[in-house]
Amino acid sequence: MSVSILVGSQWGDEGKGKIVDILSEKYNIVARYQGGANAGHTVEIGDQKYILHLIPSGILREDVICVIGNGVVIDPKALLDEIAILEKNNIKIDGRLFISHNAHLIMPYHKLLDSISESGQNKIGTTGRGIGPCYIDKYARKGIRIVDLLDKERLAKKIRENLVEKNTLLKKVYEHSELDVEEIIKEYTEFDKIIDKYIKDTPLYLNHAISEGKSILLEGAQGALLDIDHGTYPFVTSSSPTSGGACTGSGISPNKIDSVVGIVKAYTTRVGNGPFPTELLDEDGETLRKVGAEFGATTGRPRRCGWFDAFLTKYSTMINGIDYAAITKLDVLSGFDNIKVCVGYEYNGKALKAFPNDVNQLECVKPIYETLPGWKQDISGARNYDELPSETRDYLDFMAKYCGFEISIVSVGPKRSETIVLK
Ligand code: GDP
Ligand code: IMO
Ligand code: MG
Repeated sequence: MSVSILVGSQWGDEGKGKIVDILSEKYNIVARYQGGANAGHTVEIGDQKYILHLIPSGILREDVICVIGNGVVIDPKALLDEIAILEKNNIKIDGRLFISHNAHLIMPYHKLLDSISESGQNKIGTTGRGIGPCYIDKYARKGIRIVDLLDKERLAKKIRENLVEKNTLLKKVYEHSELDVEEIIKEYTEFDKIIDKYIKDTPLYLNHAISEGKSILLEGAQGALLDIDHGTYPFVTSSSPTSGGACTGSGISPNKIDSVVGIVKAYTTRVGNGPFPTELLDEDGETLRKVGAEFGATTGRPRRCGWFDAFLTKYSTMINGIDYAAITKLDVLSGFDNIKVCVGYEYNGKALKAFPNDVNQLECVKPIYETLPGWKQDISGARNYDELPSETRDYLDFMAKYCGFEISIVSVGPKRSETIVLK
């Protein structure tokens, strides 16, 4: 059976949740490998809309087992809230969800430090979920992990040690009141009672599953341009959403990966700060935001909108090794007379040969556009490729040819049914 990685190819919110839900029908296991509750993955089934932050979107298919991998940072409160919402909707969680013992915990001081650093200058525009500060502690080898919840004394010791440093920082540097150590210890010692049953050595579990012939879909959060190494640093998240991160974040080796599926929105959006060459600050941008309902699934912030940046997506295709693309939100482009696609950047009067992920350069580039004819028809009812207008098919062909991927899925609406499966 197969192991596939599903990645966001742009700046997140490409529609990963919807496509994971579609694909998970064919997989035994869906595993998240990075990020945390900064993600907001929407799945619409009938009239019901689910927004998943930590739990893989495969949870909505009752035969699928879900794994939160070692690369994810977990806010236990956010996790329990999410479990409660799903259970209220009669979705069974017990026996279907496993959490890596090595995943790091988001602590109250991570969220506080995230909000304090965002209140100063040089804002990233984070989701405020404590993601950056938690990964800082992970890499500084000071982090507290899921496994620590199982040993109350060790947990209390680690919290105390961390609080000495964090409270000094809060008081001396940020002139903020100190956090109550005992309160945090009390709060976190309670979590194991509920989370205990989900904890597993997930790399071992996933590798056993592969040897038993089970299929696994690795669900990425965020997108390639938010990757800590390959994105528009420093306006990125603090993990590796690109396909390479899927191996580290799950414990599955690269030679077990069969394919990479990139989720590609038919235009471009971004939430938070940072350069965005094809951003539209005019009526067209407003139309994309309105028709595409481009408001953050986690924070509710309006998303910045712009034309499809093929130059950027080609770069993302290279970094991720995207074999197949799922094109999403194609219906949103219906109605435009003409549609522009960015096929390069001009910098200091010259066309750049490669995508620059240096933000100083990226902030100064001018997009080079190719204009394609639009289509007026509503395409949300199309269920076959042949039912799409010829202009729409030409647009898809252009995307595939320019970026160098094969299109396997075309999404024409948020619902499960509004999907054209090509391969
Ligand atoms: P994710 O973070 O990549 O999972 O994406 P989000 O859920 O944050 O944002 C995608 C939004 O677009 C959600 O509201 C989806 O319900 C919606 N969506 C997904 N695919 C389509 C589509 O093909 N057409 C339209 N109109 N909406 C879509
Ligand atoms: P999904 O999985 C879009 C952005 C934030 C900010 C930057 C850093 O739903 O696609 P962080 O809180 O991670 O430290 O914020 O990354 N960001 C996202 N943008 N979709 C997401 O997730 C995002 N997760 C983080 O807006 O610019
Ligand atoms: Mg999202």
